[in-house]
Amino acid sequence: ELPVEGVITCTSPSNIALVKYWGKRPVQLPENTSISFTLDGCKTTTSLTYKRRDTIAEDFDFELFFEGKLKPDFRPKIKNFFRRIEEYLPFLKQYTFTIETSNTFPHSSGIASSASGMSALAFCLMQLEKKIHPKITNEVFIKKTSFLARLGSGSACRSLEGPITVWGEHNDIEGSNDAFAIKFPYEIHSNFEDYQDTILLIDKGEKQVSSTVGHDLMHGHPFAAKRFEQASENSIKLKEILTSGDLDAFIEVVESEALTLHAMMMTSLPYFILMKPNTLSVINKVWEYRKNTGSKLCFTLDAGANVHLLFPYSEKEKVLEFINSKLVAYCQNGQYICDKIGLGAKLL
Ligand code: PMV
Repeated sequence: ELPVEGVITCTSPSNIALVKYWGKRPVQLPENTSISFTLDGCKTTTSLTYKRRDTIAEDFDFELFFEGKLKPDFRPKIKNFFRRIEEYLPFLKQYTFTIETSNTFPHSSGIASSASGMSALAFCLMQLEKKIHPKITNEVFIKKTSFLARLGSGSACRSLEGPITVWGEHNDIEGSNDAFAIKFPYEIHSNFEDYQDTILLIDKGEKQVSSTVGHDLMHGHPFAAKRFEQASENSIKLKEILTSGDLDAFIEVVESEALTLHAMMMTSLPYFILMKPNTLSVINKVWEYRKNTGSKLCFTLDAGANVHLLFPYSEKEKVLEFINSKLVAYCQNGQYICDKIGLGAKLL
């Protein structure tokens, strides 16, 4: 029996990849294993209002509000998502939905909202699925939610759980697979407890390259095969680092992954440079700071100019002082966001 009407509200965070996913095959299957920190403060809150329809309809019926405003331009993306997941959630056309969503991070800050947005929507829809099939186990629930989120946006599948998730099959990582992300299946060293991620907003402009275009650039890319192999090796290195707590090795893998992601874009056809001069200035300052202080501060990048600064909780005070005195000058309007690793999606 399908529930008649109700509202489901949940939150789901963004995530930052340590080993990057860049390159996919249909349908949203990754070319290599990726590993990410789930974030805590940077998240989307989504309310799904559902009302059963009297007649079986031909098409999906939904309205979408972003930060209180009706957003017709987001419709095609959601409709496409519904089409993709309909075979796994057959009730979709039997409801009228109102989706209301908002982000904690500033609009068009250059922080990708697709991971938090798509995982939040998948999580809400799965809560409705659970009302229809109450016997679904927690394990199946979370796997299926990640699976559906993946069909919305690849990296979204890594946002449902935390503090660290793995997506993409790897022989040496138990349970890893291409269809959905799993929680990092080994004990994480206490060095990573409460790990901090401060995001420097270097350039809030429109994304120069959408991730769809970006992933496509890996088809026929001269270094693709080598890159996928390297990501696999780095996943294994990172698995060992996360269990041993070796922060110097962590820095090496994470910074190399960030620069490699950008190197892939610089060496594709067409080619792109997504870093800005201030991105490079920040990177140089981070290296200088590390050399002078012995700090374990390091950086990573997404497909854009913003810089994520990763560091242990124990260094929080000192690093924030460094950011405030030396790095804010490189941020657009002096803006940065202090975040840390978190635990994934939640029902409110
Ligand atoms: O989920 P997508 O298709 O937007 O791809 C995201 C790719 C990167 O953010 C650049 C890397 C990653 O693994 O998250």
